[in-house]
Amino acid sequence: MSLKGKKILLGITGGIAAYKCCELVRLFKKNGAEVRVVMTPSAINFVSPVTLSALSGNEVMVNMFPEVDPGKSPTVETKTWHVYTGLWADIFVIAPATANTISKMVNGISDNFLTATVLSARCPVVVSPAMDEDMYLNEVTASNVAKLKEFGYWVIEPETGELASGLNGIGRMPETQTIFNYTAELLNGSKRDLEGKKVLITAGPTYEPIDEVRYIGNYSSGKMGFSLAHAASLRGAEVILISGPVALKTPRNVTRVDVTTAGEMFEAVKANVAGNDFVIMSAAVADYKPKSVYEGKIKKSETEALSIETERTTDILEYLGINKKDFKLVGFALESTNEIEYAKDKIVKKNLDMIVVNNPRVEGAGFGTDTNVITIINSAMKISSFARMSKFDAANVIINNMLGL
Ligand code: CTP
Repeated sequence: MSLKGKKILLGITGGIAAYKCCELVRLFKKNGAEVRVVMTPSAINFVSPVTLSALSGNEVMVNMFPEVDPGKSPTVETKTWHVYTGLWADIFVIAPATANTISKMVNGISDNFLTATVLSARCPVVVSPAMDEDMYLNEVTASNVAKLKEFGYWVIEPETGELASGLNGIGRMPETQTIFNYTAELLNGSKRDLEGKKVLITAGPTYEPIDEVRYIGNYSSGKMGFSLAHAASLRGAEVILISGPVALKTPRNVTRVDVTTAGEMFEAVKANVAGNDFVIMSAAVADYKPKSVYEGKIKKSETEALSIETERTTDILEYLGINKKDFKLVGFALESTNEIEYAKDKIVKKNLDMIVVNNPRVEGAGFGTDTNVITIINSAMKISSFARMSKFDAANVIINNMLGL
């Protein structure tokens, strides 16, 4: 794959896999890229900057403040070189990325040239974590890697095999060809496979008022829908996210419309549905609402039980299925029994192109969790089941399947 004219910044941190970087620089150069290398001070214990500068044809940057002649004041460029380096790059590939550097990255620490450049870079940043299995599986590292993805870094998952410690397990940096391919795909746009597409996503619960201070709601946190919006936006889509009441930050570049009730969500969907390529109904919309809303606050009675009469809300998904124009329609189903059969029925009844099923009784699935266990069924009734993964990874799996529709 040609990388002619592309500017690649390679960041090397202090891990044994750093030796593979010499080959990686050669591969980038051989395919036409211009390469600059930045290293953390500990990385130079594993591979020499002299080798990397010879291979890249550029000086390797390690120190935050390059030496200047005594008596000469450093230029603005010298003092802010990390900013210029960050702006120069079309892509920044950090391989290997140690647990330490990953931890600094998710906390905004910029105490060396490489981490300062990370904060300045406007280009996509690819991170290839590589470390011993115990370090990788440590809860803190696992949560930092999940945060990297949430912040929008592109993470190349490490592989399983023999590690520097002599132990076997997960944590190996993939072969240089794998990192090369990933970088080349990203540079050539194939990871932005939703560029030019419009996606409408609903998320979160709805609240149906009983009186002025009470409502009927559900435990949906909105995390799955927000992850979908984030992933779709990173992949280049123009995203409108219609959200019920949730405590989540709007993902970057996503247009958010806040609603409270099922009725408001229905109106917001109708107002925004035109022109979309995909509509994903991941919101947990109330099926029933109180028939009338009590004015003021209902007083308790010492003698009588309280009954609230309810009526059906509009099934937004069904409405969209009936009125489907040029978009693909993706529904969600949260079922605790016979989930596949019920989900298949919904595909037909609601005219869906795809349904994402999860069972709240399965550990790591459903409302409020950071992970999900999903099964995807398309309109040809092809069933694909997936193991537990983060909601962000699940979002990407859903998008991959959606693109195949
Ligand atoms: N949904 C909707 N409008 C509603 C209720 C649900 O658009 N008023 C959508 C949800 O966003 C989800 C799908 O319908 O995509 C599935 O909702 P679910 O509650 O699992 O199923 P229901 O169709 O409500 O069926 P049942 O009550 O039988 O579980």
